[in-house]
Amino acid sequence: MCLKLVEERGDNAIGLDLRNAEFEVDLSDADAVATFVEKIEAQYGHVDGVIANAGTQANSPLDLKVNYFGARNSVTSFLPLLQKSDNARVVVTASAASLQPTDTKLVQLLLDDKQEEALEYGQALADRGGMAGYANYSASKRAIATWVRRVAPTQDFAGAGIGINAVGPGVVATPMTTELLSTDEGRDMAFGAMPAPYNGAQRPEDIADVLVFLVSGMNRSMTGQVIYVDGGFDSISRGEDIWHAPKSMDQATQE
Ligand SMILES: NC(=O)c1ccc[n+]([C@@H]2O[C@H](COP(=O)([O-])OP(=O)(O)OC[C@H]3O[C@@H](n4cnc5c(N)ncnc54)[C@H](O)[C@@H]3O)[C@@H](O)[C@H]2O)c1
Repeated sequence: MCLKLVEERGDNAIGLDLRNAEFEVDLSDADAVATFVEKIEAQYGHVDGVIANAGTQANSPLDLKVNYFGARNSVTSFLPLLQKSDNARVVVTASAASLQPTDTKLVQLLLDDKQEEALEYGQALADRGGMAGYANYSASKRAIATWVRRVAPTQDFAGAGIGINAVGPGVVATPMTTELLSTDEGRDMAFGAMPAPYNGAQRPEDIADVLVFLVSGMNRSMTGQVIYVDGGFDSISRGEDIWHAPKSMDQATQE
């Protein structure tokens, strides 16, 4: 959907995905991404924007590999090509799950780039199942959103004229949620965990419009932001006070 919107704006869009894309690449495989970036450099010289949207919700370390390490590596691999543009922007799809209580030790391992330890710890959480396993997903999304905020003002990004933001969707009707949203029980579970009083589940185009705006020339000053496109969940979960860090899973269970 993003590709279509970008092309409608008159820009050239290149899609990459595991399957059904112009370029079929496993974004969790750093060597495969490097080869792809070389191809793009040879063909186009530079890129003006990256939309890092691929993701999984397996509630296992796969989420860490794709949603955090894969997304971060994709963006940094494209950095030299973005730096050759005179007007480049990046957007990463995080999630409103980044607002949910999560395993803060796992988030820290990701941010400290302790890949092996993070994957091992994530597997131990996955083996426990339930909310512990889900922390693989929520931590991957909190870490990638934190990373976006961390790098946005640095020399590599702001200093090179590159804006970088994240989008945090709530519950979106996509193949990722088809099964969940197909029963009353599933819908109750989804909207119990992530209420969306404004218009309910988001449509893919609700998210795509914001992603494309953020990489377009219309975004001249926003960087380091996490824009929640979530039907109101952010304002419910954080309330009026957006100046305090989200709670850890431990703090939430103690209350
Ligand atoms: N659907 C939701 O409710 C929801 C909510 C919040 C955030 N998100 C995020 O939105 C993004 C898009 O998800 P979606 O809902 O469209 O799900 P989806 O499953 O329909 O699409 C995910 C896409 O990522 C691709 N992908 C997965 N692993 C990959 C890999 N290793 N290499 C390359 N491509 C890979 C898949 O092939 C698929 O096309 C994801 O980052 C997801 O976490 C979705």
